Amino acid sequence: MNHSKNTPSNGRNSHPNARRDFLKSTAVAGAAASAPYFFSNPKTFAEDAKTKNDRMTIGVIGAGGMASGNINTAKEWLDVVAIADVDQGHRNSFNQRFAAGKADVYEDYRELIERDDIDVIHIATPDHWHTKPLVEAMLAGKDVYCEKPLTLTIDEGKLIRKVQKETGRVVQVGTQQRSTFPLFVKAMAIVAEGRLGKITQVQAAIGGAPSSPVLPVAEVPGNLNWDRWLGPAPKVDYRFLDDGKGKRPLTNGHYEFRWWYEYSGGKLTDWGAHHVDICNWALKLNGQTEGPVSIGGTAKHPVDFKDGFPIQNDRYNTATGFHFNVQYPGGTEMIIRNDTDNGVLITGTEGKIFVNRGKLVGQPVDDLKDNPLPEDAIAKVYRGMPMEHNERKQHWANFLHCVRERKDPISDVHTHMEMLNVCHLAGISARLGRDLKWDNATEQIIGDDEANGFLARPYRQGYQIEMRKGAKS
Ligand SMILES: NC(=O)c1ccc[n+]([C@@H]2O[C@H](COP(=O)([O-])OP(=O)(O)OC[C@H]3O[C@@H](n4cnc5c(N)ncnc54)[C@H](O)[C@@H]3O)[C@@H](O)[C@H]2O)c1
Repeated sequence: MNHSKNTPSNGRNSHPNARRDFLKSTAVAGAAASAPYFFSNPKTFAEDAKTKNDRMTIGVIGAGGMASGNINTAKEWLDVVAIADVDQGHRNSFNQRFAAGKADVYEDYRELIERDDIDVIHIATPDHWHTKPLVEAMLAGKDVYCEKPLTLTIDEGKLIRKVQKETGRVVQVGTQQRSTFPLFVKAMAIVAEGRLGKITQVQAAIGGAPSSPVLPVAEVPGNLNWDRWLGPAPKVDYRFLDDGKGKRPLTNGHYEFRWWYEYSGGKLTDWGAHHVDICNWALKLNGQTEGPVSIGGTAKHPVDFKDGFPIQNDRYNTATGFHFNVQYPGGTEMIIRNDTDNGVLITGTEGKIFVNRGKLVGQPVDDLKDNPLPEDAIAKVYRGMPMEHNERKQHWANFLHCVRERKDPISDVHTHMEMLNVCHLAGISARLGRDLKWDNATEQIIGDDEANGFLARPYRQGYQIEMRKGAKS
């Protein structure tokens, strides 16, 4: 298969892949584009794809919990031909489950991204391991579905946006709430149709991180390459405690990496990536196109911090509680907090709505009975792309649709990084314990050198991002 490498830059180049050309020739995209969200007649992407005898191949990097859920969803369109994971147990069981043991397995993902017979790549590694494989995969000419949050720092986001623009690769971010019909997308349609008037405040309630007892240093399990799991992060001991109290053992490794700033931003980026994203989407649909000017608030950590770094390294360290206020030009504000019902509250001059994964409520929703949304309102918010009902399925369908059409998916890297900047700024403010002023045009914190030091992170020797010849970081 002849993959184009480093295609020049506008994100809309045609691709020489035969399967993609075949898929591109199908009529479903156009047919569903103008359909209302509760359509029953025009085919969905899924219905159409089932009738095809051509499928795409996928390589999976990071075969843990999220990749399993994702591939279980997307397997009806994709064949898993290669799996990379630093845990031998994970890569082998994933292979048995999703490829009947026939996929090639790797410890080092770089072997996987070099293969010419892989159409698309899924990255579902821990957060500190997103930017490096994503950038390298784009430079190797691959389209990628990468889990959220894309980065640990604001500067990583700059690099991803630049490389995506230069390579024209299609990248879907795993913020699948953007594909949730009718809840989140309907909420966005209500906003876009002006039913709330001018938005004055958006609020993301995302819960706080757990704390933990001291986690003892433990022997690294024989199946896990701990050095490669740490990768670009500082070299530290493996910690593990199975106190039998929670759903999972406590560790600084699998799954629980979320509660360590070394590998994640805690809840601020874990769930912030979902709900701050919806807040930002609402603001943009309502005409607020400029980024924030300042962020301030309070945060509580389970350990003490000095100069923005935890002084104990033996237990979870991300914020257990917080309340941030983000100011936008013109006086609009965004609240990010842990202490009220998980979801997004959008307040405008004409009314307010609340939306989460289970409900969409508020007077403007009730008013739809007498004054329904225009038939194309949902399709417009979804940029006229094909739709179906299951959020995870739809998010993958949207990715594959955009791969064949060479379009930006609904969760594109550019809007993702706009809102992730806000989550990262909240994290920096939390760690330093002070308010920050932000210059959105230069993506710099104003008048605070120490805070600007958190815009990037050092990569451990041997784990730097590998830019190809001709590519500039
Ligand atoms: N979209 C969502 O709703 C959602 C939900 C859960 C998790 N996630 C995201 O998915 C990602 C993974 O989370 P998870 O809960 O599946 O974690 P996990 O620990 O279960 O899985 C991560 C896997 O990546 C592997 N890995 C680590 N470093 C690697 C490397 N260098 N190369 C290859 N494999 C490597 C680990 O061994 C593990 O198997 C996170 O970024 C998380 O934020 C998204």
